[in-house]
Amino acid sequence: MTGDIYKQCIGEPTEPSNIVIFGAGGDLTKRKLVPALVKMLRCGLLHKKSRIIGVLKGRTQADWLDSLYHGMHEYAPDIDIDAQQWQTFSALCKMVPGDLQDESTYAELATALETIDGCTHAMFYCAVPPEWYTTIAIGLNKVGLGEEKDGFRRMVIEKPFGMDLESAKKLNRELQAVLDESQIYRIDHYLGKESVQNLLVYRFANSILEPLWNRNFIDHIQISAAESIGIEYRANYYEKSGALRDMIQSHLMQVMTLVAMEPPVEFTADAVRDEKIKVLRAVRAIEPENIKKQTVAAQYSSGTIDDEPVGSYVSEEGVSPESATETFAAVRFYIDNWRWQGVPFVLWTGKRLPRRVSEIVIRFRKPPFNLFDAQASSPLANALVFRLHPDEGIALRMNAKLPGLTTEMRRSVMRAPYSEEGGDVADAYEVLLHDVLIGDATLFSRADEVEESWSIIQPILEAWKDRLAINRYHAGTWEVEGMEELLSDCVLGWHKPPY
Ligand code: BG6
Repeated sequence: MTGDIYKQCIGEPTEPSNIVIFGAGGDLTKRKLVPALVKMLRCGLLHKKSRIIGVLKGRTQADWLDSLYHGMHEYAPDIDIDAQQWQTFSALCKMVPGDLQDESTYAELATALETIDGCTHAMFYCAVPPEWYTTIAIGLNKVGLGEEKDGFRRMVIEKPFGMDLESAKKLNRELQAVLDESQIYRIDHYLGKESVQNLLVYRFANSILEPLWNRNFIDHIQISAAESIGIEYRANYYEKSGALRDMIQSHLMQVMTLVAMEPPVEFTADAVRDEKIKVLRAVRAIEPENIKKQTVAAQYSSGTIDDEPVGSYVSEEGVSPESATETFAAVRFYIDNWRWQGVPFVLWTGKRLPRRVSEIVIRFRKPPFNLFDAQASSPLANALVFRLHPDEGIALRMNAKLPGLTTEMRRSVMRAPYSEEGGDVADAYEVLLHDVLIGDATLFSRADEVEESWSIIQPILEAWKDRLAINRYHAGTWEVEGMEELLSDCVLGWHKPPY
């Protein structure tokens, strides 16, 4: 890619904005934010008069830019940026050195923002651990940067939003004491995945699905995120979090709300989020006596993935040898409303599984009477699969006759890969950063959603908290004790990818 960096692409153009990144020297900035901003600038979605202001300490501006440049090549090689394009991008970047707990850092930031001509909007991205969110919000407010006088002021925070119901409420209270809820953008990068948004289009722009999308036709739904990676040197966080908090309370429950919600009256942030929260409110509380029946927790022991030996969870750096933290979690939810009464929603996730696949699997009921029982090699049921990654797309599992002079049947899968729709599949961070800049909060979690999802998870956290031992599975296998039982009454049982 050479030539003019500013190319046209699809999407609402943004106004000149200051993008302030707290923790601009960290991994998230290098891996995700800068590549996304470079792509947005390159295709004209980021206004060329915007500025990227990195707040960090212990580096010079040249040093910082150098590490961003190398990060681009290491983590986003497909962007294939040339020297001229990097120069155009880096000319927009400015570093404000300082400590987050130091009031003078915010004063300096305010001064830096004042000197930027014609760019009055500001997004404050907190690419720092959550314990800093409140300090940053207070710091900004003290120097008047929380006030929306001449342009927008939006604060972006990453999960985890609390570690349980109480801490989530506390964080919401503290942030709302200095900012308006409409200024707070809670990122859940799963909602930025194009395939997740496509789910909404499939549901609400196609009339053939709606009549089937309910308890009369659907047997159960599985929403999954299998990963082959381990905890990637994040023991400090993961030991306290575990798979339930890390993936189910956040990403997978958010996806569940989109699968289960009623059509909103309009496609606006609040109309969509009002429908999502109704789903969460209808989730049946899991009683202590049902925890065992409705949940699975396990931890990986050593094994082999892609022919490479991998160690156990407890052998990872920073993990206690006695750790009973779950690296695999599954929960079977019920949504008590007219549409979903009695339909299990099984959300599951795990690290060090054989492959990285994330899917929404809608399994339909078996035909009421089976003419072809003798010829069927597996139960006759249909499934619609939304593949969130990799190979985003949709697959419909049907039953078909084998060709030839036989009545035997086989499973036939019709696939519609998203890549064949034309255009570039945007990264979740591109989608979400763009949405913050244009003020569209549809794909961001509202305070009430966050609290509601924690209150659903809370009984499981309580039941699991004093556990001393945990089931194991060998890394690189699907042999997770309890999973087959959790889905034993569901058509076709546990769906281990791929089809
Ligand atoms: C993060 C979790 O939120 O999502 C990680 O903290 C997990 O543990 C990651 O690996 C998965 O994201 P993706 O987009 O790779 O499925």
